[in-house]
Amino acid sequence: MPQSLMATYKRLDVTFTKGEGTWLWDKAGKRYLDAISGIAVCSLGHAHPAVTRALCEQASTLVHTSNIYGIENQQRLGDALTAISGMERVFFSNSGAEANEAAIKLARLHGHHNNIKDPAIIVMQNSFHGRTLATLTATGNRRVQAGFEPLVKGFIRVPYGDIEAIQALAQSSQNIAAVLVEPVQGEGGINIPPGGYLGTIRKLCDDNNWLMMLDEIQTGMGRTGAWFAWQHENAKPDVMTIAKALGNGVPIGACLARGEAAELFAPGSHGSTFGGNPLVCAAALAVIDTMTTEEIPAKAAALGSYLVTGLAAELEGIDAVSEIRHAGCLVGIQLDRPCTELVGMALDQGLLINVTAESVIRLLPPLNMSSEDADTLVQGLSRLIREFTDN
Ligand SMILES: Cc1ncc(COP(=O)(O)O)c(C=O)c1O
Repeated sequence: MPQSLMATYKRLDVTFTKGEGTWLWDKAGKRYLDAISGIAVCSLGHAHPAVTRALCEQASTLVHTSNIYGIENQQRLGDALTAISGMERVFFSNSGAEANEAAIKLARLHGHHNNIKDPAIIVMQNSFHGRTLATLTATGNRRVQAGFEPLVKGFIRVPYGDIEAIQALAQSSQNIAAVLVEPVQGEGGINIPPGGYLGTIRKLCDDNNWLMMLDEIQTGMGRTGAWFAWQHENAKPDVMTIAKALGNGVPIGACLARGEAAELFAPGSHGSTFGGNPLVCAAALAVIDTMTTEEIPAKAAALGSYLVTGLAAELEGIDAVSEIRHAGCLVGIQLDRPCTELVGMALDQGLLINVTAESVIRLLPPLNMSSEDADTLVQGLSRLIREFTDN
């Protein structure tokens, strides 16, 4: 790999030069079935014609002005996002971590408005919220934090899925301003909380005047079978962050808020040079338009069930497969052993998968994947798992 790049990534030995739908091609012309979508980013597949068209048209008209001027596409995208989410106002960033930074700042403003001197945010074990200093502190993974101390103050951690731990904090702590949680933990291993978890957090936030802040960066934009995962339980947050699939590959994130939280930022309190520029907003508008007309959230629910039913049938009887967990097209196959090796084995076979939390095979396929491609994925992956586990 080139020496001119900082060594932040342990890269696989492959470079792609072309993508179309669910497929990628490498420099040698070898074709790969993409079951990871650039980690939940290209949910409409690669080079989606509507997104490509929107980008080309916008690039030939106006790419960037500045947030010191009005930006028509940003306004239109704000309207589209508030319409599909029922949230009220949007701040645009360039990444997921920055969207979470905005949420963290809102929590601190909320705390100070309520006379809390050192406001704290409840966060979860095994969570992932990003790599900036505040978001890596919020992240519940020591490997992400190690070496970057001193960490940021103002986070209290509890086990994911444990309502009683949050209730106990409501009794014992006076300085809490917000709860920040993923509806399903993605990087943490496709961890699905007990039913009613988000609804109970909603109630605790109401009872204690905390902001309920959902990180939907991986779960959002249709991935779990609804536009946003909280919609399955109708547990509407005060603040929600999204990124990843919002631009189908163009870097854009957003922090959405409603009620009092939507009024906390004032001119000068937050900003971003590139955030929500005409080009990225054109792409995101095309994404929302396409996802709406093609009913992508419903398709994601159906595709997720189809994949998991197929996998369950193919993997039946393999003791090393302890569990298959999924929320729509966010799929985790839990093995009883570390299985990072499978990523390279799959690559050799022309299949792109991911392993997270060491022993969880993670699938994040494009949400509009055809049933033929889904069958190819199920067959190919099941064969590999059998080989890997000697079955
Ligand atoms: C739930 C969640 N939050 C935040 C992030 C960080 O997003 P980004 O890498 O765009 O900063 C990620 C990225 O994987 C994520 O999955």
